[in-house]
Amino acid sequence: MIKKKPQRSTGRGKARPSPPPRLVEVQITAIGARGDGVARLGDDQVFVPFTIPGDKVVARIEGKRGDGLAAALVEVAEPGAGRVEPPCPHYGRCGGCSLQHLDDDLYDAWKRDLLSTQLSRHGLGDIPVGEMVRIPPGSRRRAVFAVHRSKNATHLGFNARASHTIIDLDDCLLLERPLASFLAPLRAILTETVPAGEDGDVTVALTENGLDVLVEMDARLDLFDREKLAAFADANDLARLSWRRPGSGFVEPIARRKPAMVRFAEIGVEPPPGNFLQPTRGGEQAIARLVVDAIGAAKSVADLYCGCGSFSLPLTRTGAHVHAVEGDEAPIRVLEAAANQSGLKLSTEVRDLARRPLMAHELKKYQAVIFDPPRAGAQAQAEQLAESGPGIVVAVSCNPATLARDLAILVKAGYRIVSVTPIDQFPFSPHLEAVAVLRRD
Ligand SMILES: C[S@@+](CC[C@H](N)C(=O)[O-])C[C@H]1O[C@@H](n2cnc3c(N)ncnc32)[C@H](O)[C@@H]1O
Repeated sequence: MIKKKPQRSTGRGKARPSPPPRLVEVQITAIGARGDGVARLGDDQVFVPFTIPGDKVVARIEGKRGDGLAAALVEVAEPGAGRVEPPCPHYGRCGGCSLQHLDDDLYDAWKRDLLSTQLSRHGLGDIPVGEMVRIPPGSRRRAVFAVHRSKNATHLGFNARASHTIIDLDDCLLLERPLASFLAPLRAILTETVPAGEDGDVTVALTENGLDVLVEMDARLDLFDREKLAAFADANDLARLSWRRPGSGFVEPIARRKPAMVRFAEIGVEPPPGNFLQPTRGGEQAIARLVVDAIGAAKSVADLYCGCGSFSLPLTRTGAHVHAVEGDEAPIRVLEAAANQSGLKLSTEVRDLARRPLMAHELKKYQAVIFDPPRAGAQAQAEQLAESGPGIVVAVSCNPATLARDLAILVKAGYRIVSVTPIDQFPFSPHLEAVAVLRRD
């Protein structure tokens, strides 16, 4: 375990006084939105990670958290019903998972409740949340690993909870096997090529022609390093190996052995190095199915925040003309190339949708609109849709809080929510994907 260099503090905001560390006995009554057990201690709420409702625990109060107190679990004195043995040996230290100690029923109910709670907060408590689509552990096809090169070793894995400490991983039950078994050779090559003291990230994605690897580090490579890295790409049969110095827009191709190809509705696309992909193939397909079913016979569709076209391309298969809009130019160019090659009815646009959402007069061209924004959501776009959106809107989101906010804007403007489907493609974590289908006559 090693600490990555902490980000420099901005110096803004005053540190709140923390209570002195002390041991307390509490009874857990709920699990909060971040996956920690919640208990009461006098007038305070206490958050204790790795606990479930019904647990009686000894916890150590460690500081403030929001309006309540943060605590560490010391001992489970009496376990609640639904507690199970976590399957991973790194559990409790690694920040990748926080819900392995829940049995299946408790886990399923808690995850769906994440969505219901946010909907209720926005006045949509009467909307039923559909059955959760479960993507099993071991399906993660893309991951970003943290790296620190110390004097004697390379530390590679995920950060510990709320910390810059890297938990060294040699395996991870979330990952597809080719990603998990790449950890050891990746660590070895970084030890050979990166000088001590360097920190960075490595994004690894599984494509149909092997792994696509992007290293983001400040280390300067000499010719000898580049040769070693190219030989490493050959030895591990990588599709592509690229290097970027953080803050630089330039991605240096070290080895491009085969197209780093993924397929959306059988159409091949080669995403730019490190580009966003839905974390699991099963999750992406489940979302795409819901999107395609929802648009039905619509003939003109706008896919907003489209990335490389994980929904745009399946949508073209319905015969609809698709207008794909995205803030980042590189994925749009890749999508364009794929569409041109296959002669598809697809137009594209590079546009910052937070600053310049599609306006009412532009939205009139479409019979259906899909949006799949980053965690911050699509408030500006939802406001325009409220004013002049088409009869069908599909909202895809990885953040139940901003999804519920955006849905409330649409419902207030006369849309009705036909379905909300949670898709659990982040198992054992408090993250949840969801697809909401809305209609307005
Ligand atoms: C959650 S991803 C979804 C991508 C795609 N739908 C998919 O499934 O692969 C969000 C996408 O929104 C893009 N994005 C982020 N901020 C944006 C903005 N302000 N305007 C337009 N696109 C933005 C990102 O580049 C990313 O491709």
